[in-house]
Amino acid sequence: MIVCVCNNINEADVRRAVRAGAPDAEGVYAVHGCTMNCGCCLATIEDMLTEERSAAPAPNAAKSRAA
Ligand code: FES
Repeated sequence: MIVCVCNNINEADVRRAVRAGAPDAEGVYAVHGCTMNCGCCLATIEDMLTEERSAAPAPNAAKSRAA
């Protein structure tokens, strides 16, 4: 599914950008070498950022289990 029509960024592109460390929507655009244009996709990208963060293990989860 295309998330950002202006920049031709699809759902998989957004998720890859988040997993690569994009901290926010601007970071997602930056990973793809673009910037926000019309802004219609902003809410969707922010929702996906929240989903990816909640799905990702906490950075210290492995250490906590090992302790
Ligand atoms: S749809 Fe993403 S900036 Fe326009």
